[in-house]
Amino acid sequence: MSDNRIPLLIDTDPGVDDALAILMAFDDLAHEVIGLTIVAGNVGLKHTVANALKLCEVAGRGDIPVFAGCAEPLLHPAPDAADVHGADGFGDIGYTQAARAAEAEHAVQAIIRLSHEHAGRLLLVALGPLTNVALALKLDPTLPSRVARLVVMGGAVNARGNITPFAEFNTHFDPEAAHIVFEAFETFDLADWEATLAHGFLHVDVDAWCAADAECARFYDAISRKTRAWSGERRGERWHSADSLAMAFALAPEGAETASHRLSVSLDGPARGVTLVDWQGLDPRPANARILLRYDQAAFEARVARALAAI
Ligand code: RIB
Ligand code: CA
Repeated sequence: MSDNRIPLLIDTDPGVDDALAILMAFDDLAHEVIGLTIVAGNVGLKHTVANALKLCEVAGRGDIPVFAGCAEPLLHPAPDAADVHGADGFGDIGYTQAARAAEAEHAVQAIIRLSHEHAGRLLLVALGPLTNVALALKLDPTLPSRVARLVVMGGAVNARGNITPFAEFNTHFDPEAAHIVFEAFETFDLADWEATLAHGFLHVDVDAWCAADAECARFYDAISRKTRAWSGERRGERWHSADSLAMAFALAPEGAETASHRLSVSLDGPARGVTLVDWQGLDPRPANARILLRYDQAAFEARVARALAAI
């Protein structure tokens, strides 16, 4: 394997769509997944850690360290997404726990350490609430100087939310953490909920991809069945996988059409967790978010299908 692969650290709250994004990363030859740092979000930390370990085991990636991180948002409790992903975050299929345990090192410390080990080359992809990344910034404000690129799945750039009418789950779960991250990184890439809605998969296609003769496809078919049924009842003929789109953007930015604007997050009142985008450039501060507007759907779907069939 060429050693000029891009080091990729994934901060995540697996979660069914997180799992597909992680499988896409495992399948990409241009990137080396150097670790999974785990946060509470979709479901509690005990489950998100167990899910990450199990996914690595199914994919034959026991070499990838899994680090447990923050079990709660920085300040205020927030509702999880167990109704979407299952009580255990992986469709409640009752899988056998992975043989391996998480590393002893806390995820926040691992983020800081790995940023030094891969200074200037690190691709950091955040697929869950930004609690771990925010705490890493509080411990080491120089973190952004060592991260080559940050890609965030979060927000709803025109306030079409999914956990409240106006807020997307990840930013709503820990808005203070999102604020800290969005203010600390001069620039970051953002794949939001509205982009996710615009890049759904036909259920029939996902069914076919999950029918591949591969261990990952079989496992993914099982853990995603509940949320795909949930989506079919509520969102029509397409299934939406937010973290997968963010991962496609991260792994292959050439497939993206983007626009850069100043983005912030509301912390108070009924708009708590809502991402605010200065589309007209009236804010004197420079643009910080490179927002995904459109992605090459065929390339996106080919990447997902390949990742499921890979192992
Ligand atoms: O709003 C979608 C996001 O919230 C995804 O990352 C999903 O996994 C949940 O964490
Ligand atoms: Ca997620």
